[in-house]
Amino acid sequence: MDEKWLEKFFQNKDLHPNRTGQSAIFAGPPNFGGRYNYDELEDIKTKNLGLGWIYYSLARLYKPKLSVAIGSGRGFCPILLAKGIKDNENKGILEFIDPSLDDDFWKNLEKNKEYFSNFEINDVINHTLLTTQEFVKTDKYKNMNKIDLMSIDASHFYEFVKDDWEHFKNKISDNGIIIFHDSISRSANPKWSGPRKVLLEIAKDPNYQFFDLKFGAGLTLVQKNFFEQSKEYIEKLDKEWTNPDKDLF
Ligand SMILES: C[S@@+](CC[C@H](N)C(=O)[O-])C[C@H]1O[C@@H](n2cnc3c(N)ncnc32)[C@H](O)[C@@H]1O
Repeated sequence: MDEKWLEKFFQNKDLHPNRTGQSAIFAGPPNFGGRYNYDELEDIKTKNLGLGWIYYSLARLYKPKLSVAIGSGRGFCPILLAKGIKDNENKGILEFIDPSLDDDFWKNLEKNKEYFSNFEINDVINHTLLTTQEFVKTDKYKNMNKIDLMSIDASHFYEFVKDDWEHFKNKISDNGIIIFHDSISRSANPKWSGPRKVLLEIAKDPNYQFFDLKFGAGLTLVQKNFFEQSKEYIEKLDKEWTNPDKDLF
């Protein structure tokens, strides 16, 4: 990501990190969503993407072949994921699902293509103008497997976040990662606490682990408890390595 690209991103006021709760300010009352008490000028001057760095970095780190992003008001997260995917030069694709329910922003598919080509990501992002509930009835969903990177930022009502999670959790690859946004403090209105409520349920499932980044409106990373450094693996090593102080590796 070069200076010029970042400059272009910041030229669009709708994409400023504070607008969607992505700013580099600690989450939680009284700064719900990182929209108050926020030095917008400073972050714009220093081109600080806040949580946006994480989206871009995760795409560069995981080098995902298939990514899915559900929901985004103006594309903050999908654009930064797609930019990372584009910079990977590995033919990765991001499927972006948003029915444009909040306003008409995503309704014109031609306009969306222009919007994305302005960020040079048109060839790595496919937008589908459907709700999750409609999308899961399509062949695209049925044939979709092994999602390496997923972002969930659609309706924040519990039933809908739960639906997003339930429909996609079994499609995530073993080493895949799932991002929940607005997972800490989007609003004091409990109806908007859907992401946190679903995460509290995931916390009880031994098959998953998660990590909160308490910035903006909050971002939580979820992954399967799949990798080798499990309790069982370490116990097995304890038994097998008779002289660990001598045989260092
Ligand atoms: C506004 S964003 C969430 C907040 C985000 N952090 C922001 O401020 O940009 C919510 C998006 O989810 C989409 N959405 C709402 N219900 C949905 C559903 N059932 N399935 C998929 N997307 C949905 C809306 O169209 C909207 O664009």
